[in-house]
Amino acid sequence: MQEIIAKTRTFRRFAQKEAISTAVLHELVDLARLGGSARNGQPWQYMVVNTPELCAKIFPHLAWAAYLTDWAGPAEGERPSAYVLCLLNKKWLRGSPAEAQFDLGVATQNLLLGAMEKRIGGCRIGAFSPRLAELFELPEHLSLSLLVALGKPRETVILEECRDDEDIRYWRDEHGVHHVPKRSLESCLVTLKVRQE
Ligand SMILES: Cc1cc2nc3c(=O)[nH]c(=O)nc-3n(C[C@H](O)[C@H](O)[C@H](O)COP(=O)(O)O)c2cc1C
Repeated sequence: MQEIIAKTRTFRRFAQKEAISTAVLHELVDLARLGGSARNGQPWQYMVVNTPELCAKIFPHLAWAAYLTDWAGPAEGERPSAYVLCLLNKKWLRGSPAEAQFDLGVATQNLLLGAMEKRIGGCRIGAFSPRLAELFELPEHLSLSLLVALGKPRETVILEECRDDEDIRYWRDEHGVHHVPKRSLESCLVTLKVRQE
């Protein structure tokens, strides 16, 4: 378990020509839909995209790696070959919108873990232009909240321990290796004093 969780990193450069079939994308959505959900509302629906034409229309609306300020995002040839669009179905909303976002985190982590098992890497994209939704005839009850970009990874991503808890920015070294600092276990554990009655 530790191995697959550690391997399931965010990837942003892919072998664009390596297609991901609709059947595989459906298998991944099948994992997403099994995630825990507040009040078991399961308010998310997913649209899978894997045609080069539609992928090309989606790509310009996405923002990549805000901390890598000198990188404009994946170049032609290393862009995602598929996307999963995550759509909130307001008719299915049982709890608060915040609870729905929790559910989406759970769902997309399932999806990304399943993808990694198939050697497919992904990147959640929350930073997209509102104009992206205009590509689609969205019914009133659906709103686009997140995309998961997918492809065969063409970059190395490694975890490292944060040296400084105030600096969590990921970075890329001179060999193009992407480094992701994670807070140490020690930093993540807290012990609260129990109030005396
Ligand atoms: C809800 C959410 C939204 C994200 N949105 C973006 C995004 O718009 N663009 C991007 O390049 N990465 C995005 N990411 C990826 C994060 O930057 C990435 O998870 C973080 O750098 C840690 O790397 P790791 O996933 O390998 O642990 C997003 C991640 C999450 C969970």
